[in-house]
Amino acid sequence: MMFGSPSLPTESLGLQFDNPIGLAAGMDKKGENIPNWECLGFGWMEVGGITLHGQSGNPKPRMFRSMKHGALINRMGFNNPGSEAMFKILAKQKSKKWASVPVGINLGKSKITPNEEAEQDYAGTMERLWEFADLFVVNVSSPNTPNLRELQAGSELDRILTACNEVNARISEETGAKPKPLLVKISPDLEDNQILAVADIAIAQGCAGIVATNTTTSRPGDDKIMDQVGGLSGKPLRQRSTEIIHTLYAHCGQKLPIIGVGGVSDVDSAWEKIAAGACLLQLYSALVFEGPGVVRAINRGIMRKLTEHGFESLSDAVGHAHRS
Ligand SMILES: Cc1cc2nc3c(=O)[nH]c(=O)nc-3n(C[C@H](O)[C@H](O)[C@H](O)COP(=O)(O)O)c2cc1C
Repeated sequence: MMFGSPSLPTESLGLQFDNPIGLAAGMDKKGENIPNWECLGFGWMEVGGITLHGQSGNPKPRMFRSMKHGALINRMGFNNPGSEAMFKILAKQKSKKWASVPVGINLGKSKITPNEEAEQDYAGTMERLWEFADLFVVNVSSPNTPNLRELQAGSELDRILTACNEVNARISEETGAKPKPLLVKISPDLEDNQILAVADIAIAQGCAGIVATNTTTSRPGDDKIMDQVGGLSGKPLRQRSTEIIHTLYAHCGQKLPIIGVGGVSDVDSAWEKIAAGACLLQLYSALVFEGPGVVRAINRGIMRKLTEHGFESLSDAVGHAHRS
């Protein structure tokens, strides 16, 4: 069964998207379904997180559902085959069938790599998998790798982005292909001033955008599941993630495109993030709770909203809450 979305063409990050809704990182960790996500109506996808070294992640159980809150808690811990094995998997996939929509790769850090050497992990994976991605996301915001989120701090992040930029520039020169857009993904648990500091570094490093946000370690309430350790996603994340998009857009305007993710599950939750300043969106939890029809439903709803508000294109609607 196909769940094709209506066409909502938009240009962002130097790439063309047929619609703004992407599959968030963590669902297709190994890139095993790259040709299939667009059949569900996704306009793009982010595969991974992938780390330099293969690792099995945390012991199971490591993923929990709260039906009451429409939320997931996960502590997967970057289970993935590692960059070398991923190269083989992606090369095989590409020789058979690939996506016709943009494919992003989420870069994580191996648990065995100390934070002091983190840049080698991120840049090493980027180098190995460069040819397969249309964009890369530096994930320094997963709560499930010890101390990973400390890498959002100024000099640490600077070092990682410098190393990734060097790889990007070198391969681009060697191959004659354009450098790939590099984005940073942030945690919703940062203070506003820390968020703006990350944004300033991202701009100074020439990043193509910022992904807001990853999962949160905060908890909305009283469900037994909420005692589980890990990152919370889904409906309870919606408000904080939208607030962060507002904060980022007010600070950066058009200088740093924002990818909105966190609790997008219907047209209203998608539209509020576009109004706040997101030019592209992603979702994960809604696919679990609402099923695959959710992507098409959101895109159709966005199309209706554009007409109702008299916007000619999606890009005209981005950040409109700041103009009214
Ligand atoms: C099981 C699971 C695994 C995830 N793995 C990753 C990951 O590897 N890298 C990453 O940047 N985000 C990861 N995420 C976070 C999502 O990409 C997304 O930022 C978060 O779930 C909020 O979106 P949602 O409310 O639509 O689920 C994961 C989320 C879940 C639920």
